[in-house]
Amino acid sequence: MKKLSLTFAIIFVLTSIVRADEGMWIPALLQKNEAEMQAMGMKITADDIYSINHSSMKDAVVLFGGGCTGEIVSEQGLLLTNHHCGYDWIQKHSTIEHDYLTEGFWAMTMEEELACPGLKATMLRNMVDVTDKVLENITEETSDEERAEIIKKHIKSIIEEAQKDTEYKVSVESFYIGNQYFLMYNEVFDDIRMVGAPPSNIGKFGGDTDNWVWPRHTGDFSIFRIYKDGKPYKPDYHFTISLKGVEKDDFTFVFGYPARTNEYLPAVAVNQEANVIYPVVVDLRTQILDIYNKYQEQDPKVRIQYASKHAGLGNGWKKWMGVIEGIRNFKGIEKKQAFEETFINWCQETRARMRYMHALRDFDAVYAEYEKYRMATTYFTEAGLSIELIEFAANMAKLSEVTKDTPQEEIDKLISELKAVSAAFFKDYYQPIDEEVALTMLEDYRAAQPEDFRPEILNEIDKKFKGDVKAYVDFLFGKTMFTSEEKVNKLLDGFKPSKVKKLEKDPAVVAANSMMDFYVENVMAKAKECNTKINNLRRVYMEGQMKMIPEVFPEKRLYPDANFTLRVTYGKVGGFKPKDAVEYRHYTTLDGIMQKENPNIYDYVVTDRLRELYNAKDYGRYADKDGSMHVAFIAGNHTTGGNSGSPILNAEGQLLGLNFDRTWEGTMSDLVYDPSICKNISVDIRYVLFLIDKYAGCTRLIDEMTIAE
Ligand code: ARG
Ligand code: GLU
Repeated sequence: MKKLSLTFAIIFVLTSIVRADEGMWIPALLQKNEAEMQAMGMKITADDIYSINHSSMKDAVVLFGGGCTGEIVSEQGLLLTNHHCGYDWIQKHSTIEHDYLTEGFWAMTMEEELACPGLKATMLRNMVDVTDKVLENITEETSDEERAEIIKKHIKSIIEEAQKDTEYKVSVESFYIGNQYFLMYNEVFDDIRMVGAPPSNIGKFGGDTDNWVWPRHTGDFSIFRIYKDGKPYKPDYHFTISLKGVEKDDFTFVFGYPARTNEYLPAVAVNQEANVIYPVVVDLRTQILDIYNKYQEQDPKVRIQYASKHAGLGNGWKKWMGVIEGIRNFKGIEKKQAFEETFINWCQETRARMRYMHALRDFDAVYAEYEKYRMATTYFTEAGLSIELIEFAANMAKLSEVTKDTPQEEIDKLISELKAVSAAFFKDYYQPIDEEVALTMLEDYRAAQPEDFRPEILNEIDKKFKGDVKAYVDFLFGKTMFTSEEKVNKLLDGFKPSKVKKLEKDPAVVAANSMMDFYVENVMAKAKECNTKINNLRRVYMEGQMKMIPEVFPEKRLYPDANFTLRVTYGKVGGFKPKDAVEYRHYTTLDGIMQKENPNIYDYVVTDRLRELYNAKDYGRYADKDGSMHVAFIAGNHTTGGNSGSPILNAEGQLLGLNFDRTWEGTMSDLVYDPSICKNISVDIRYVLFLIDKYAGCTRLIDEMTIAE
């Protein structure tokens, strides 16, 4: 019986582990993947993609700002990324007279390109394995605390040493949860200018409704340029653009900056994440978004005020629903459990491996302990701080640190910061929404967290308001000064330390302080402690997996979790079957935009100009050979957040499009990857060029690109 179940486990694990499309590979080690990539159709070499001896594709890929990817497409540093990645800058440059968000923006000359002070593009120049140096003198006997100290010291000296000989910015990054370390050399560009963006009803077409969803029709791109020493930057490499489009089963690869994945977690952790925490977050956010929707539909002003808040909450909300379903439908927990059974059997073969087994088993107790603190954190941030008044009051409560001994210039600085916070708050605040959010969030917070382990303010509701949350909310919003811009201005303008007492009595400050005190005093340190334990166990378990997988599953190659470093992932173009009786094709067209068009629904407005081009079928050389305008396509590349804006490239390494999303059915790929369902969504580069050329008439940009017909 034992034997049978082991065989079963191995088969189960094998089928889930040999997955051609899975993996985010370290570019410096891509040689190991070259044969497979070529067998899948790639016509170039690993050396063409990443080399430190000659120019290669890596010299055309940058980390755009802090969380996206961009790629260089001309000899003059022209840079493409997503519309949602450039969004902040498009917004910052917009005024009532020049509303680039609504109208789009096109610099018709280089002089018209707009500076974006603060925006950076970071390019990897070299990476060197320094694992031996970082882990020198560390043995199995070294305690976790000692280990952390030694590593910190080693990393500091490696960086100091390396920085002496280079103008690049150096850092040391951990891979495989502290089992491998690389020294990274990055060139940082800090003169990035905005060159172009389509109107939002193209760049954000489908809005939050279509977000994470296939079929998709978003023209999600914006254009920037890297400048160096005041002149357009001459890159070592820029991508050639392909006008051939994609066919089913074509080889593609994506080169970019994935932020975070957790593929090597134990089942108990995945279960906590997907079945305990996410459902709570989703439930809380569903209630908040319902309230937003109700008021946003009633009033166009409120729609704009809450658009960005809605997008922020909605993005994670939708993704986590996808994770929950994906883990369930594709048996994520069961697959992890089967793997762990095999792992434990392997550990039991020698005494030296026992420590890996112990690490795996120790997760149970730590996660059990962790759950209470994670839940408390979740309610604090998702329920407590979702009440805008509470969050605002928490900010304003900083004033209570002012005493009569605080130097005046410090007070002035704080006041001017808080004035900015206050102006931003009132610009987009709609009190009826917040009151309703407060009512539902406090009810849930109170119902879910035990009396002896929650902020005192929730117990006050029982004591002073007989458990009537509505009565408390009425009192809170009726008595606070923080819903009145006039009162807040008065407080800030004439602020004196003697006003602190009054401030601290404000019911919104009382509530905010109560929640923050509870979190800081009872949750934060404990959660951190659990996290440290978990990370140490994960490191040991990872080390075990790095030894076990090559032995037991020799055909499987390991890849490190995403950590915001440059990675290559590859997979084939193709649709998928999200559920019974439903099958998706791999591309969408402009016809779909016209089908979705609805002048009354903000997310589905189509401009006259686009409709004219569509009616005239005026696509020029950007049409597909089937005559239609292809808009987006999906492929089996293993991507995650941060890969937005990444180039998706063909077998020759030519640009096919820009990655911008995943299908939500496959969002569990951050925890468990399944090639049948995990697909990345890209905007077709031909649609991008069509918009630049035919729609905007910004042909000077087309002229500087290298285009392969
Ligand atoms: N889901 C994509 C990502 O995770 C796009 C988000 C921006 N788009 C939006 N409609 N909110 O970043
Ligand atoms: N839209 C995501 C980003 O901004 C990419 C989607 C994903 O998570 O794969 O990076």
